[in-house]
Amino acid sequence: MSGTRVVHAPPATRALDIDVGGVETPVYIVDLGALRRNLAILADVQARGECKVLLALKGFAMWSLFPVIGEYLSGIAASSLAEARLGREKMNKEVHVYAPAYERAELGELVRLVDHVVFNSFSQWERLRDMVSAASGLRAGMRVNPQHSEVAVPLYDPAAPGSRLGVIRDEFRTDRMEGLSGLHFHTLCELGADALERTLAVFEERFAPALERVEWVNFGGGHHITRPDYDVDRLVELVRDFRRRRGLEVYLEPGEAIALGTGVLVASVLDIVHNEIDIALLDTSATAHMPDVLEMPYRPVIEGAGLPGEHPHTYRLGGLTCLAGDVIGDYSFPRRLEIGDRLVFRDMAHYTMVKNTTFNGVRLPSIAIHDPADRSLRVVRRFGYEDYRDRLS
Ligand SMILES: Cc1ncc(COP(=O)(O)O)c(C=O)c1O
Repeated sequence: MSGTRVVHAPPATRALDIDVGGVETPVYIVDLGALRRNLAILADVQARGECKVLLALKGFAMWSLFPVIGEYLSGIAASSLAEARLGREKMNKEVHVYAPAYERAELGELVRLVDHVVFNSFSQWERLRDMVSAASGLRAGMRVNPQHSEVAVPLYDPAAPGSRLGVIRDEFRTDRMEGLSGLHFHTLCELGADALERTLAVFEERFAPALERVEWVNFGGGHHITRPDYDVDRLVELVRDFRRRRGLEVYLEPGEAIALGTGVLVASVLDIVHNEIDIALLDTSATAHMPDVLEMPYRPVIEGAGLPGEHPHTYRLGGLTCLAGDVIGDYSFPRRLEIGDRLVFRDMAHYTMVKNTTFNGVRLPSIAIHDPADRSLRVVRRFGYEDYRDRLS
């Protein structure tokens, strides 16, 4: 990987005890036990914080698991009509939507599906509010931008200078809030309760007059609540304190926290070549199947592998597409890799299935569920030629 890029370290997650010996590859496997562990933490936040936690589908939208997720969480947060519809069809609890802009016809369909709709500007709100007023029981909110950055990587910082996401204080019109019952902010990414605490202080100070006029506030996503070192008690206290002082309902809409540490991507070695370094060609792809490895970028953890030189045999792991940079990274192994070996990439449930592409016609990984109770492995989706064809015309 290029030396000029900042390579993000993934959070420490524990290994999943899944026997991948006979499984078809490439495949994402999500472990029900790990998922339920995350959901129990989030349900505890809801209960003790007296708030509601929604699954942000942009991060994890494996709908075969929505019935399980719906046992614990209050609903879903959508970013589009397609996500809202999936949430309504497959979980049917609360459905919230926020998008940077709505198209009138699409909003007409959305208002029939959602409980909350969040706007990104007063111009959109005023142009489209007639559609909201016509829908009974629908609550509308405004996304604000506290202009307080906690995220180091500009690509992932919604509060960066010049951001299009949310109304900044100088543009906010407290006098034009009639019909709006809530405020929404989202400024975090993979961060702790300390980052939320600092953000909340700025948000409350900058939007104090608006807070007097609403019933609910959505604290967005980016809360890494299920990471082992996350201070859950501090989050609960922050939410409780906010509710006590303000008397407002609180929503959180994490995506990553639901699926963090719950799934792996299993790939096989298809070939081994040599060009200054040993290179293993895998039946997966960084750009098509784990795009954040290149976009963020970060170095995924592979079970049993280490940094180059840490073990005796070092390989560059490459993908199936034509992109020269379709490289996952350089990893060392205790023994030589052989064709047919399986590699298990840790923590591949979130921001993978939802972001995948069929670039080069490379087949999408299958999707499977592992149940630790009986160690069963069930493939719930396989992809093929039709999935590639049907995205094109
Ligand atoms: C508005 C909004 N809500 C929620 C999320 C979910 O964030 P995460 O998956 O980091 O928790 C995002 C992520 O970009 C977002 O933009």
